[in-house]
Amino acid sequence: MSLFSTPFDPAHDRALVTGAGNGIGRAIALGLVGEGVRTLFADVNAERVKAAIGASKTPGLALPWIGDLSRPEACDELLAAADVELGGVTHFVHSASPPRREADHALAVDRRTWQEMHAVNLEAGFHLAREIAKRLIAAKRSGSFLFLTSLHAGTPRNLPHYSTAKAGMAMLVKELAKTFGRHGIRVNALVPGAIAAGGFVADASLAKHIPLGRLGEAGDLVPVALTVLSNKLSGYVTGAAFVVDGGLSLTNWFEAPDVGE
Ligand SMILES: NC(=O)c1ccc[n+]([C@@H]2O[C@H](COP(=O)([O-])OP(=O)(O)OC[C@H]3O[C@@H](n4cnc5c(N)ncnc54)[C@H](O)[C@@H]3O)[C@@H](O)[C@H]2O)c1
Repeated sequence: MSLFSTPFDPAHDRALVTGAGNGIGRAIALGLVGEGVRTLFADVNAERVKAAIGASKTPGLALPWIGDLSRPEACDELLAAADVELGGVTHFVHSASPPRREADHALAVDRRTWQEMHAVNLEAGFHLAREIAKRLIAAKRSGSFLFLTSLHAGTPRNLPHYSTAKAGMAMLVKELAKTFGRHGIRVNALVPGAIAAGGFVADASLAKHIPLGRLGEAGDLVPVALTVLSNKLSGYVTGAAFVVDGGLSLTNWFEAPDVGE
């Protein structure tokens, strides 16, 4: 039987994707639905979720949840909705993140913006993952979690609230992978480069720094995301970070050599 023909088990797998209203989260959520997985599309923006679900070829498998994940109570509401709508979550993708604004540099970012960035990325990610894991452990079921981190977990972005939140998430992935591993729950990071998806205002001139010669699109993340999420394809992979950046992170002050056409 083909290894790739059935990466998920639609009879048992249930997915929750945060930030599913737009960009990378939306693309991964639609990818999961495309594989037959019943998926909860969670986002703060109702219009975006409606449009995302409308874009699915099997909208019956795509369910909406609207709420602001910077509020701890909203995380509890989302977990309760996932219990009711899905009967629990086996696959969790955390892609929600507030907008990045270039004006929010270290001398300018206000306390509220700092807290919201950490609350959505790090605190909601931790709380949701831990509660989903508790339910899976009690039910003796395996699971697979994927956190959208960033190249700026390791390099400055001139947005200290963003880079520190992503650095925290990168370590959270390792902490959770180590703790949950013996229960059959895998936890990994997906590290996008410059993806013209909504959260990143793309400057086309950036393409010259990318070895593969173009900015990324949300769809570029989907095959790797689904492969890592799949227990069949990646059952022995945990605590890892998968960079999907067209080679952007290879950029430094040395130009690539001129080897002709
Ligand atoms: N786009 C890139 O180039 C890039 C690069 C590195 C990392 N990432 C990460 O990938 C993820 C997705 O990025 P994107 O560019 O697709 O982002 P995006 O802005 O297009 O989508 C983020 C989604 O999160 C939702 N959201 C924001 N605040 C929320 C809240 N309080 N509660 C619930 N939902 C909320 C938004 O409504 C939006 O639909 C983010 O975590 C981002 O940091 C993106």
